[in-house]
Amino acid sequence: MGFTIRDYADVDEPSWLRCRALSFLGSSYFDDVKDRRTTFDGPSVQLVAVAPRPEGMSTPGEEEVVGVLDVELWEDEGGASVATIDTVAVHPDHQRAGVAGALLDEALGRLRGRGLAWIDAWTREDPEACGWYAAQGFLVDQTYLHVYRGGDEQRADAHGDEGFDAPYGLGAPVKGFFHGPDEDPQVWRARFARVHQCRRYLRRLDVTAWPEDPRLAELYDVENAGTWDHDYFRGLAARLAAHRVTDVGCGTGTLAVALAADGHDVTGLEPARASLDVARRKPGAERVTWVHGYADALPDEAADLVVMTAHVAQYLTTDEDWEATLGHLHRHLAPGGHLAFDSRNPAARAWEGWTPEATRTTYPHPRGGEVTAWAQVDRVEQPPGEVGGEPRGPVVTHVGHTVLEDGHLAYPETLRFRTRAELEESLARTGFEVLEVAGDWDGSAARPDSPEHIVLARRR
Ligand SMILES: C[S@@+](CC[C@H](N)C(=O)[O-])C[C@H]1O[C@@H](n2cnc3c(N)ncnc32)[C@H](O)[C@@H]1O
Repeated sequence: MGFTIRDYADVDEPSWLRCRALSFLGSSYFDDVKDRRTTFDGPSVQLVAVAPRPEGMSTPGEEEVVGVLDVELWEDEGGASVATIDTVAVHPDHQRAGVAGALLDEALGRLRGRGLAWIDAWTREDPEACGWYAAQGFLVDQTYLHVYRGGDEQRADAHGDEGFDAPYGLGAPVKGFFHGPDEDPQVWRARFARVHQCRRYLRRLDVTAWPEDPRLAELYDVENAGTWDHDYFRGLAARLAAHRVTDVGCGTGTLAVALAADGHDVTGLEPARASLDVARRKPGAERVTWVHGYADALPDEAADLVVMTAHVAQYLTTDEDWEATLGHLHRHLAPGGHLAFDSRNPAARAWEGWTPEATRTTYPHPRGGEVTAWAQVDRVEQPPGEVGGEPRGPVVTHVGHTVLEDGHLAYPETLRFRTRAELEESLARTGFEVLEVAGDWDGSAARPDSPEHIVLARRR
C-alpha cells in the first residue's frame, strides 16, 4: 500500500487523531487517547504519512492519515539544541510497511544542519516500539516506572499508604497514575497489576552530543592531556611552511592555540558551542579566529593547510557527510593546499579495548572532587560492500560514561572506521591527491596493522 509524506495540515486533524488512537490501541498506551491534537509554540517538524482515503470513511479530505510524526525542538539547561519526538504512530493497517522509518528519515533530513545535538523519545517497554527505536539507531539513555493503581488494588493494599485522597465531598479515588524510580521494579509489580518501564531513547544527530555538554567540555583537556598527535601536526605545519591553518573540529582549541603561538594564522572551526566556549577562554585564544559551525561555513581558498585531529574524520559516519565535508575543505583550501588528518585503522580493532574494565579511570575534577569515566561498546555494524577488494570498515557505537559528584552522564558516540582504501578512494573522488599515509605518531609509513592512518593529501 503506497503512502506519501507531507507536512501536517489542519484538515488532517480528525484522521490524525484516529490514526494515533488506533495505533496506540495495540500498545501499553492503549488508554492514552486524545480528542485534540497537541500544538507547538516553538520550532517543530510536524509530518503525516497519507494514503488515498478508503471508500465510506467519515473523516473529511481526499486522504487518510496512516502515520504521524511530531518532533519538537528545544534547548536543554546546557544550551544544547535537542529534538524530542512528541508523537510517532502508524495506523494498524499500515504497520510494517516502512511508514515510521520514512517519516523519521524525512524529519531527520529537515533537522540536519541545525546544530542539533540529539533526538530523543520516551516510550514504554512494548517490544515493537523498542525494536523500532533500536533499529533506527537509538540507545536507551534512562528509565523510570509508570505505575497505575486501580480502585481494587487500593482496597487490597496491605501497606496502608493510600497514596492519595479524594477532594472533600467526593467518593474514594478510582485510579491513580504515578512516576516511580526503576531501582526495584519487582516491588511495584508485586503490588500493582499495571507497571510499565518508561524509557528514554536517544540518537545522536549533527554533532556528537558530548562536546555540547559544558560539564564534559571542561573535562576534555584533563582526559586528553597527551600531546603526541598535536606535536605531529605542529611539526607538519612547520614542515609545509603553511601560513594559514584551519583546525576543523578544533574542540577545546588546544592545538589551534598552539599553532597560533607557533606563528601560523589560525582558524578554529567547531560545531559544539560548549567546546568552543572552553577554547575561547584559553590564554592566547585571541590570536585564533573561531568559527562556530561546520565545514560549509568556511570561506573559499582561504587556507594553506587544513587539519582534523583526534579522529574528527571518524565522526563523519556517512559517506554523504564525509564526502560533502571533503568537498567543502577542498573549496576552502588554496590550490595546492594540504589536508592532514588521522583516522584509526580498522585492522587494529581499537574498539575491542573499549570495555569498562580496560577503560575505567578516576581522576581529580579541576574544580574539586573526583571523576570516574569508562567506555563500553554498544554495537559494531558492518556497512555492505567492498572497496579495493576488501570489506569496508565498521561503524562502532560506544557509550562514554562519566560519573561526577552530582550525576552520571552517558553519551553514545558513533565512529566510522574507514579502511585505507576507503580513505584514498574518497579523497581521490573529491579532488585530493594522497601524498603520505603514516601509521603511527613517529611518522613511520602505514603497515596493514598500524594503529592509525595519518593522511597527508594535497588539493589538486
Ligand atoms: C575528539 S574531539 C577532537 C577535538 C580536537 N580536534 C582535538 O584534537 O582534541 C572531536 C571533535 O570533532 C567535532 N566534530 C564532530 N562532528 C564534526 C563535523 N561534522 N565537523 C567538524 N567537527 C566535528 C566534535 O564536536 C568534537 O569537538
